[in-house]
Amino acid sequence: MYSQGMWLPNELLEQETNMKSKGMTMSASDIYSINSGSLKDAIVHFGGFCTGEVISDQGLVLTNHHCGYSAIQSHSSVQNDYLKNGFWAKSFSEEKPNEGLFVDFIVSIDDVSESIQNFIAKGLSQNEAIDSFIQVNPAIGKGMRSEIKPIYFGNQFILIVSQRYSDVRLVGAPPSLIGKFGADTDNWVWPRHTGDFSFFRIYASPDGSPAEYSPENIPLKTKNPLTISLEGVNEGDFSLIYGFPGRTSNYLPVNEVSQQIDVLLPIRVELREIILDKWDSAMRINPVVKIQYASKYASVSNGWKKWKGQIEGIEASYGIDTLKKRQERMINYHSANNKNAFVAVDQLERFNNQTESLENARKSLIYFQEILRNWELLTWSRLANNIVRLSDEGKDLKGALRALIEFEKNYNPELDRRSSRSLVQNWLSAGEKDTLLTVPIDYINETNSFLQGLFSPALYKSLPIGIAELDANFIADSCRNHLAFDLWPDLLNRYRSLLMKTNKLEKDFQSGMKEWMSLYLSSVDEGENIFAPDANSTMRVSYGLIGGFSPRDGANYNHNTTTEGILEKYIPGDYEFDLPQNFKKTLENREFGRYADNDGQLSVCFIAANHTSGGNSGSPALNSKGHLIGLNFDRLWEGTMSDFYFTTQRCRNIMVDVRYIMWVVDKYANANRLIEEMRFAD
Ligand code: ARG
Ligand code: GLU
Repeated sequence: MYSQGMWLPNELLEQETNMKSKGMTMSASDIYSINSGSLKDAIVHFGGFCTGEVISDQGLVLTNHHCGYSAIQSHSSVQNDYLKNGFWAKSFSEEKPNEGLFVDFIVSIDDVSESIQNFIAKGLSQNEAIDSFIQVNPAIGKGMRSEIKPIYFGNQFILIVSQRYSDVRLVGAPPSLIGKFGADTDNWVWPRHTGDFSFFRIYASPDGSPAEYSPENIPLKTKNPLTISLEGVNEGDFSLIYGFPGRTSNYLPVNEVSQQIDVLLPIRVELREIILDKWDSAMRINPVVKIQYASKYASVSNGWKKWKGQIEGIEASYGIDTLKKRQERMINYHSANNKNAFVAVDQLERFNNQTESLENARKSLIYFQEILRNWELLTWSRLANNIVRLSDEGKDLKGALRALIEFEKNYNPELDRRSSRSLVQNWLSAGEKDTLLTVPIDYINETNSFLQGLFSPALYKSLPIGIAELDANFIADSCRNHLAFDLWPDLLNRYRSLLMKTNKLEKDFQSGMKEWMSLYLSSVDEGENIFAPDANSTMRVSYGLIGGFSPRDGANYNHNTTTEGILEKYIPGDYEFDLPQNFKKTLENREFGRYADNDGQLSVCFIAANHTSGGNSGSPALNSKGHLIGLNFDRLWEGTMSDFYFTTQRCRNIMVDVRYIMWVVDKYANANRLIEEMRFAD
């Protein structure tokens, strides 16, 4: 039986037998039901980028520290540094509202493929069909939304009705040295000791309906919060992850995967190594740069490590061979049944041609994307263009100026000059010169003077920054007259026109995928015809067994870590591995009470073979009875190729043990009022 897969909760019945054979004692309808209460009622899409779960009948939500990070940061100041010291609201009135933050509850998920196919049969495009359906079946009620998402590349369509609550307040977060313990060094890494959790609360109008922030709002009364288990986890136990994984590509033709692994991802990795290298050297010698670049470094490094893991993981697991065999089995199945034999072979040939002819353009697009993202002078240019546009339109400049000031706070022009010069040189040497930007003509006479001009210290020294308190018109003029002013629009336009050129081919490729997926769906593979749909930010359930594995010859990973490892990793004064002194003392007392494991230790993190991806951050890990045992926050880098190819031999997701979370809340933060509102299993 396939153990991979992110399953649609409304179709879980097909998985029930397999789930039970792995130890699950509840039923599919305990997990998802629209007629009676189910676990689904407690799961929220957090801000549209993470998952969260309701753990009290007063709307208390648990999610990751890294999901709540910008909310925590936005309330932090030098006097009240909640990132550094943590934050625990002592009463409802101390809970902090967050503009723009929302959670979505899923009301129902329904297969509407037939209706959509009918529209399409009448000659509408897929998008028109979806629009027509929504027009006829609009969402009704406060905060209600209807959305149709294609599944299996448009072989199926689901209607998702959800309800959005937009008053979500910060309730509690541990200090970053707990919530981000190990930071970038430990990111994607096992053994892990990160307490990656934070608490929020959903507020609603007094009648319980969604409302924008208002002091009159009250905590949302939630009917089916999760029950917390302090029973603990063992090797081989069943576990289930409920959440909103973003994107996986598990059915790509093999040549596409090879192109990603051999050609495209290595470019991204190389470009990011240039940046990380330059930033790291500067951060090590300059404490100001350290603070300015920490968060940017974390985000550049997060993708870098994931892709590196994908490249190595596919190889180490013979992923390409396995995918090739599965592709052959599908084609052979159709050949044997004679029906779709030619369709499958033809489609594969078309794909292979398309993959090849798209390769160069895709490479260029990657250079563009990485450079647009990581050359900070372009960010300056984007913000400057915004100021000038608003000024020309006679509009208020306050917001745009504030954005520039925020940017400047964390900007080191000299460092950016050095790192982006290496980036662009790498681009030029890869033969991308002709796609470079248009800058004032005297720069382009020849490559060298072009580069010299573009990266001359004078250019960076003369940037109109640090003047934002001055007269708005003066700032607009200084921006407009600066040589770097045109960089962003020029590069963006070139990027867009390249995108346009590839658009048609990529679209053809996508419509081929619809056909291709239908060939998989109508085949039988190794006795099964169950193919889990790729992730697309819709609600999913993954399940698998808790357990370690051997990452390489002679080494073994346990299924869990304990607080002993936190003390082992502790490095005084280090920005990643230091500990708050009072926390260290509490740890050293080893008074774990009801949160301890059988052997008296306190478990911190554990791993399981659940198929997860980005977006599953903050997802609840549930045991065989559906009780909360952990909080998902990462994968092992050895198995990040699960986005293309999942194997239980190497792919693991990482969760914080709920007992560690509760111990920190109870014994370190003394946030008893939170413990009291939660529900624990007997
Ligand atoms: N790797 C996790 C994810 O993809 C955590 C990222 C945040 N932590 C960090 N050190 N960058 O989101
Ligand atoms: N940290 C990721 C997130 O934010 C989850 C890890 C993964 O990619 O599986 O969603």
